[in-house]
Amino acid sequence: MWRGCPVPFAMYTVPKLTDYSAQALETAAADCVRACADEAAGVRNEAELKAFRDRWMGRKNGVLTQINDLWLKAAPKDAKREAGRRVNQIKAHVEDILLKAEFLRLELATGTPLRSGRVDISLPGIRRPIGAEHPVLRTSRELVAVFQKLGYSVADGPVVETDYYNFESLNFPPNHPARDTQDTLFIAGQQAKPPRERLLLRTHTSPVQIRTMEKMRPPIRIVIPGTVHRNDPPDASHSPMFYQIEGLAVDTNITFGDLKGTLDHAMKEFFGSRVKTSFRPSFFPFTEPSAEMFVSCFICGGSGKRGTDNAPCRPCKQTGWIEILGCGMVDPNVFEFVKDNGYDPKKVSGFAFGMGADRIALLKYGVDDLQLFFQGDVRFLRQFS
Ligand code: PHE
Repeated sequence: MWRGCPVPFAMYTVPKLTDYSAQALETAAADCVRACADEAAGVRNEAELKAFRDRWMGRKNGVLTQINDLWLKAAPKDAKREAGRRVNQIKAHVEDILLKAEFLRLELATGTPLRSGRVDISLPGIRRPIGAEHPVLRTSRELVAVFQKLGYSVADGPVVETDYYNFESLNFPPNHPARDTQDTLFIAGQQAKPPRERLLLRTHTSPVQIRTMEKMRPPIRIVIPGTVHRNDPPDASHSPMFYQIEGLAVDTNITFGDLKGTLDHAMKEFFGSRVKTSFRPSFFPFTEPSAEMFVSCFICGGSGKRGTDNAPCRPCKQTGWIEILGCGMVDPNVFEFVKDNGYDPKKVSGFAFGMGADRIALLKYGVDDLQLFFQGDVRFLRQFS
């Protein structure tokens, strides 16, 4: 069906074969496939497609059926194998050509290119991989779950915070050097506002302590997972954005013993029952007394050495202890800011703690560079799926 060919040409007819040599079979097969492709090129609409399909694939007298009869069935015994192979090859070609003719017809009918190098809908589909939970978020979720089992609920607050919630109400006096330890990122153009209303990126999740106490009367037990920002250049252990988990418990007669018992239990739940905890004095403006909590190194078991050759244990810097969080008893000055909501410092007491979820994920998964968590390289992340 040569379009534009002025002289009608003879349609392909299946020749009888006399010569069954491999060479002769190959030539005959090539002629046949070429003829099929030529005819398919002329198919433009549904009717022509049907005629083409009937002519080539028709059960009763289609070209393929004829080939089966004339080439395969008629073949002498010793040529059957080779003839069969050829006939099957031709069938596969013809089916392929028909499929392409169908696409072409669809393209013409819809005006949408389906193949032509753009979208080949005959290709197998793309399997979308099921993602895996990010190790930092997983760590955060698992830690939150430990406290939820103890009856804590989850609270959250804004990442863009005011100076009041991030500092002032947490007992950081204005211009106090303790503010410098937080490497704050300030929002630009706030000078016209009173200092306490100026916006910044929260440097810790502690402002949610105050925000929650403003909304809920004691007793409260909350955990606060969330992102925080500090003006730290990124390196193997620092990132300008990272994840914290804060905790706050306020009730009557909460003691430092409650703080220690709660955190010791939480660490055993999270790292395994063999870890020990150790509390060392520290300072935070919003807790008094304050402490840093260490867990016995779960990598070397607290010995500071690893393996049979006593290699130095890096995660604990050979001390056998790993610093995990800051904590302390809520400073009465903090309660003063929410006194009117039932937090009379003479009647209630509480403890608070804050830890870095990314740091804990680093330790737990034995990753040596914090940046790997934030580069979004699936080859890295896939290892945790
Ligand atoms: N907010 C402190 C920090 O980011 C951690 C902390 C929270 C300490 C609660 C004590 C109590 O460093």
